[in-house]
Amino acid sequence: MAPTFSKAMKSLEVDDSVWLPLIGKATVQDHGDVALPCHSLASRLRKSPQDIAEQICLLVEEDLAPIATVSSISGFVNISAKPEWLSKSLSLLLSDPRLGIESEKPLTFAVDYSAPNVAKEMHVGHLRSTVIGDSIVRMLEFKGHRAIRENHVGDWGTPFGMLIEHLLDLGEDQAANELGVGDLDSFYKQARAKFVSDDEFADRSRRRVVLLQGGDSETLRLWRVLVDESMRYFNEVYSMLGVLLTDEDIRGESSYRDLLPKVVERLNEVGILEQSEGADVVFPGGWVNREGDPLPMIIRKADGGYNYSTSDLACIIDRVERMGCDGFLYVVGTPQKQHFEMVFQVAIQAGFMDEDHQVTHVNFGSVLDTDGKVLKSREGEVIKLHDLLEEAIRRAEDAINQKNPDLVGEERKKVARTVGIGAVKYADLSTERTKDYVFDWERMLSFEGNTAPYLQYAYARICSIFRKWGGERDSLRDNFESLLKDELSILSNEELTLSRRLVEFPTIVDESITTFSPHKLCKHLHSVASSFASFYENCSILKEENAMLSTRRLALCDLTARELQLGLGIMGIDVPERM
Ligand code: ARG
Repeated sequence: MAPTFSKAMKSLEVDDSVWLPLIGKATVQDHGDVALPCHSLASRLRKSPQDIAEQICLLVEEDLAPIATVSSISGFVNISAKPEWLSKSLSLLLSDPRLGIESEKPLTFAVDYSAPNVAKEMHVGHLRSTVIGDSIVRMLEFKGHRAIRENHVGDWGTPFGMLIEHLLDLGEDQAANELGVGDLDSFYKQARAKFVSDDEFADRSRRRVVLLQGGDSETLRLWRVLVDESMRYFNEVYSMLGVLLTDEDIRGESSYRDLLPKVVERLNEVGILEQSEGADVVFPGGWVNREGDPLPMIIRKADGGYNYSTSDLACIIDRVERMGCDGFLYVVGTPQKQHFEMVFQVAIQAGFMDEDHQVTHVNFGSVLDTDGKVLKSREGEVIKLHDLLEEAIRRAEDAINQKNPDLVGEERKKVARTVGIGAVKYADLSTERTKDYVFDWERMLSFEGNTAPYLQYAYARICSIFRKWGGERDSLRDNFESLLKDELSILSNEELTLSRRLVEFPTIVDESITTFSPHKLCKHLHSVASSFASFYENCSILKEENAMLSTRRLALCDLTARELQLGLGIMGIDVPERM
């Protein structure tokens, strides 16, 4: 369709860059599937929008005839897909296990996500990163790319001096215990409190940092205890969430420590390293502090310690030179926007990467409670993710119990897990990621609206249709076109609407992945499920006497279920067969 339009618009001397952004989904479904509003072209072409729309129609009509009809209504060009085209597209999707999603020339991406900090509670921001990052990894892999998961855990730096000393004060066993069950925040706070109030402790802590950085083996052993116990807790959260991250994916800040002096050396070599008050710094240019002075990026502090930015620079060297990545994605909250902009700029200036590398800070907003404040526990503390996820499962079990009391025992438990965890993940993914996201139990667990339970329920309902039917689902997947040949006229409105939605799937998946925006896919799946609901209400399926019609409707059920399953699956959300 696009080339036809392009040709027509060129003849009117309207460039692609002008009309392409205008074309979009028709807002009035009865008018068509896609619409091109011509109002903003009026002054350029010195004609009324209606005249322009009519003229465009005449220009494209003939070429589009095999696939669509065009009409002009009040200054809009409306384009409707023809049922023949629709049935062809449907049959292509039905017979394709990938539902029309094409593989791309494989690229290698490092996806930096989750990244909690050792001996600190994993907070809701890390939950967002984990959920969004994991869905991006799955989508990239489905498109045929290689996605290398990198969990850039905060496991190095000056706080480890005080954390190790606190570990020694508590006794290793006791400390390991607290950390392993996820009492990370109180551990960190206790250490911090001693550090500010007790000079002797503070001195010990500073000496410990020196030992740690010098590679003292006993200190490194104690450090490992902190890391391992915290990871044990993080892994428990990962396993509850069902994300792909494993111990193999840990690339903590500590793993770049040998590269840090090299970063300094190389920045010096290219001549961008400067001295400022005893520290080694770089001025990326373009950023100023509150006083209006150029903002430095501190590479090595006056005391010889390195910074967060330094390890991110080392990390880029590693990803480009050792891993040979074509691109890297940082799934990290919006507050770190400036940090990444500066790091990327310095990395380019220093030649650590070039403009060809696709580098994106996949940023996201905060998690708020229903009052619009940052989400906290009832006691005003950081929420323990483990408790939060348990609560999700418990609440889901209650909801399922009410909806379907027949579901009992182990199966109910399993479904509660799928629904509860699915609800938490979906609530996050279905919000445009750059916006703040409101954590609302009622909404995310509702069986109505753009929620996981709504989609999962639609899926389970289709499974139940197929259980009743008892036939071979594969048999529905070939020859869909033949089911429509002589029966086009009885394609009901609900079938048409559902079909139109279903065929959009591959385009939407591509759009979601190229913009790293899972919410677009969520929106699509919700529109599929709601069109399915009205189709199911208005069209008889198993009771339909016309066998051809019944088969055709079953085929639509099949495709709907597969889209829901695949669409949710590539975002890391499971579907239950019953619920
Ligand atoms: N640990 C950091 C935090 O909790 C996030 C690290 C993100 N990744 C990175 N390469 N900087 O804020």
